[in-house]
Amino acid sequence: MYKDKFICDNISVNENGHLLFAGQDTVELAEKYGTALYLMDEEKIRSNCRTYLTALEKAFGKGKGHALYASKAASFKRMYEIMKEEGMGIDVVSCGEIYTAVKAGFPMENAYFHSNNKTDEDIEYAIKNGVGCFVADNEEEILSIDKIAGAHGIKQKIMIRLTPGIDPHTFAAVTTGKVDSKFGSAIQTGRAEEITAIALGCKNIDLIGFHCHVGSQVFDSDVYIRSAEIMLDFIAFVKEKYGYEAKCLDLGGGYGVRYTKADPVIDITANILSVGEVINKKCGELGINVPVISMEPGRSIVADAGMTLYSVGSLKKIPGFINYVSIDGGMTDNVRYAMYGSAYTLLPANKMNEVPELVCSVVGRCCESGDIIQPGVELPASIKRGDIIATLTTGAYNYSMASNYNRVPRLPIIMLYEGKNYVAVKRETFEDVARLDV
Ligand code: LLP
Repeated sequence: MYKDKFICDNISVNENGHLLFAGQDTVELAEKYGTALYLMDEEKIRSNCRTYLTALEKAFGKGKGHALYASKAASFKRMYEIMKEEGMGIDVVSCGEIYTAVKAGFPMENAYFHSNNKTDEDIEYAIKNGVGCFVADNEEEILSIDKIAGAHGIKQKIMIRLTPGIDPHTFAAVTTGKVDSKFGSAIQTGRAEEITAIALGCKNIDLIGFHCHVGSQVFDSDVYIRSAEIMLDFIAFVKEKYGYEAKCLDLGGGYGVRYTKADPVIDITANILSVGEVINKKCGELGINVPVISMEPGRSIVADAGMTLYSVGSLKKIPGFINYVSIDGGMTDNVRYAMYGSAYTLLPANKMNEVPELVCSVVGRCCESGDIIQPGVELPASIKRGDIIATLTTGAYNYSMASNYNRVPRLPIIMLYEGKNYVAVKRETFEDVARLDV
């Protein structure tokens, strides 16, 4: 049963009708660690990294294609250790992420500091911690980096974030590359040129290139091709006018992932190779050197490496209206349906051999009607208190967007690797939740 919902290759079912993740019995894991909990498949995280690393190297040559993990997708110490081991760079967006990466022993020269509003304190903190490159968003920030780098007696590497003016047709809340975006400076309005001239005039800044990010959950390679072309045209224009040739071009976040069967399966390697072909050709036409190309995948590194397990608390049938299955988690561990209406695939982890007969909304336990994990879920008619429900593909933007609403403690993260499992993030306690109350 439910085979039509198997959207990733790290799930299967055993003879007891139990859902397996990375080859391990999720029902046993739920028993061992308690619910609700996040599981993460370490091998999948590693192989997703290798897909990008290998494809980028193939497309642009050794050392000429860079993969940075956008750590906002899932930020905790163990992730930065894995990224270090896999030879990935990282994208960090806050001093909290920098702090965590430093604690993990991540080589900070391979960290790129994003965000559209870095305070002077943030800039100071990042410089002190040896962050390799700032992705500068605006003029105020460039001037502040120049001043603080000067005070530290260093020349700070930066990239400038630009908006190529592209609409990637993903959902509005995660679109970032259009002219009216809060991120970066638009090429179209002339602001990108002005801000580049400002950076070139700063003596404590080493402008290494440009960055753009058009949006998240993007399946269409055409989006990357169009933005790369616009960015390369800009690089050629700046070379011509200012005699400055950018060494690096960062194309932003990675490809989309499958949350349900309706999402396409994409071949990331083939896509990167086709973007590479266009870039290499276009640089030849423009008479510029091919810059070092980076991509910053977040979602596609961790999403399908994650799964959330819940226990059912109650089944409420409202005849003629709706059925509710309440679970011991909710918008505090996965806010994505409440926030974006995101689709997810849910499975009855301990009843995979039973027929899907009951259509229901799986809802959380927060004091909020919008606390819904997913509507229209098909579960066995026998579903009852104590059964285990799994949400697939929760590795990205679930733990990292978790909250303590209703003072619900955040869930632990259990890593599954080579047939073993271990705690990567502990379950929060009530004491943790109240620890800052004076
Ligand atoms: N680089 C930059 C500059 C970004 O802003 C992002 C995502 C990424 C890389 C990573 O993109 P990805 O490979 O994950 O698509 N909370 C939303 C997603 C927000 C994405 C923000 N930026 C969600 O849950 O869907």
